[in-house]
Amino acid sequence: MRGAGGVRRIGTARVARSDAIFVHRDTPENNPNIPFEFDAKNMDEAKRILAKYPPQYKKAAMIPLLHLAQKQNGWTSISVMNYVARFLEVPPMRVYEVATFYTMFNRNPVGKYFLQVCTTTPCQLCGSSKIVEAIESHLGIKVGETTPDKLFTLVEVECAGACVNAPVVSVNDDYFEDLTPEATVKLLDDLKAGRPVTRGPVSGRKNCEPLGKQTTLTTPPPGPGFMVRDDL
Ligand code: FES
Repeated sequence: MRGAGGVRRIGTARVARSDAIFVHRDTPENNPNIPFEFDAKNMDEAKRILAKYPPQYKKAAMIPLLHLAQKQNGWTSISVMNYVARFLEVPPMRVYEVATFYTMFNRNPVGKYFLQVCTTTPCQLCGSSKIVEAIESHLGIKVGETTPDKLFTLVEVECAGACVNAPVVSVNDDYFEDLTPEATVKLLDDLKAGRPVTRGPVSGRKNCEPLGKQTTLTTPPPGPGFMVRDDL
C-alpha cells in the first residue's frame, strides 16, 4: 500500500500482550525492588518439582518453576524472574531468555480473567472473528488491553490445540469451546458476577464427540479372522 508521497507503508498486526516488548523497563509496578518469594505451599511444590531432576541439572526445572511463580504472583514480573534465577542458581539472563521466548509467561500484569481467543484458521472458519468482536464490544476493550476494573485481559493466540471444538477461548486454565457470540457474552457476564461456569463445549456435546449423529463405527466390529484366507 502506498501512502502520501508514494511512501510504502507496511501493515502490521496488533501486538499481543504476551508478545509485548522484550526489553524490561523498570516501572513502579515492575522493578527488582518489589519482593517476591514462594509462599509455604508453593515452596513445597517447588521442592517437589526440583526433586525430579539431578542436582547438576536443576535448571531444567526453570519452566515449571516460572509457571508456579506466575500462578502465585499473577504474572511474571522481573522480581519473579530474578527469584527463580536465585532459586536455580543460574544467571538471571538464563531466566529472562526463557520467559521472553514463551508467550505463556505474561511479563505485564493481566486481569483476574485472562482471555485468550484462538484466531487460527479452524477457529477463524468457525467464527472466532465474531467472538473477538463480541468480547471487545461487551467489555469495551481491544485485543491486548485490560478492563479498567482489572477483571479481564484480552489477547489473541495461535492454535489452542482444541480445533475440533472451535471456536475456542481459554479463561485462565480452562477452555470454553463451540462458542457463539451470545454464549461468549453470557460467559463474561457469569464470570463478572462470580457465578459458576462450566468449562468445555457450550454446545452440549461431551468433550469432542461428533456434533451431529455418529457417522463412524456404526456397525459391530468384525471378529477374529476378518479378511484372512480360509485356508490359513
Ligand atoms: S485453531 Fe483454534 S484451537 Fe486450533
